[in-house]
Amino acid sequence: MDTTAGMTMSAARPAGRRRQPRPLPVLAALCGLALLAGCGGDPPSVLNPAGTGAARVANLWWLLFWISLAVVAEVMALLIWALVFRRGNVRVRHGQPLRFVAIAGAGLPFVILVAVYGVGLRDLAALAVDPDPDAPTVEVTGHKWWWEVRYPGASGATANEIHIPVGERVKVRLRTDDVLHSFWVPQLMPKTDLIAGETRETWLRAERAGRYRGQCAEYCGTQHAHMAFLVVAEPRTDFDAWLTRLNAPARQPRTEAERRGQQAFVQGTCAACHAVRGTGAQGQVGPDLSNVGSRWSLGAGAVPNDAGHLGGWIVNSQTVKPGNAMPPQPVGAAALPDLITYLRSLD
Ligand code: CUA
Repeated sequence: MDTTAGMTMSAARPAGRRRQPRPLPVLAALCGLALLAGCGGDPPSVLNPAGTGAARVANLWWLLFWISLAVVAEVMALLIWALVFRRGNVRVRHGQPLRFVAIAGAGLPFVILVAVYGVGLRDLAALAVDPDPDAPTVEVTGHKWWWEVRYPGASGATANEIHIPVGERVKVRLRTDDVLHSFWVPQLMPKTDLIAGETRETWLRAERAGRYRGQCAEYCGTQHAHMAFLVVAEPRTDFDAWLTRLNAPARQPRTEAERRGQQAFVQGTCAACHAVRGTGAQGQVGPDLSNVGSRWSLGAGAVPNDAGHLGGWIVNSQTVKPGNAMPPQPVGAAALPDLITYLRSLD
């Protein structure tokens, strides 16, 4: 390769001038760091699929990536060839450039785009909802800003946590109670929008047991970012046990503190909005709390589910997740520890 032009330019630099920082190596190092930051563990990434739906999307992504890379490499090679080797001594035969532009600039992209479109159509068909009426079904309703989760036939409900049997296609029926939301589990399935007045359907299938983070993917207000959920893929026996628990009354208090906490819950303002199966609390405004002690988070991913955060949430959840529907609660300092103890016992 003829590099004399570059060498001449370097030699022409006046002595003593400070070297400018080179943006390209710095950019490359930053990109490398950003890529490395995503490594390790089981990241909730589209490119780390754990289910058949997401695997199709990931394959399509890689196909587009390699095609784009090939196109960029080809264009750069042509550019280098034109700048370095053909400078000043181009002899063009009549009609040659036109033929090249027609083939490489129009014909080839057309073939690639049609092929990719075909692959996309094939994947769309594969991702369509399975008509199997016997597939396990879960009903998910989006609220500002949490997910209500019900299973047809089960009397109870849960929130921000969807259990599915591993290795099986599960139908997900989606509705919204208010605004537009979007149901997305990057490792399992692409997005499905929840549209007011409509029932949309999608499906989930996890190939390996695990806990997969989902997220509302459509801006739905100030707490859109705190509208996460968890998909728990577990063996069929564990899933069946989970469904059985969703039909049974919530765990009864076993200690005096839990009994006092239950009383405070049922007789206080909590019961106006929340339900606990098997008690007088049958509110339907907020999440069903019959198994709140076992949930992964409070406020749909806003804070961890531990005693301290639970106490803070009860007293004034507005400081934790401003704008959510739960007003500050006038719970006395004496009753609060019992209430926390009771709620944490509900697993
Ligand atoms: Cu719901 Cu964003």
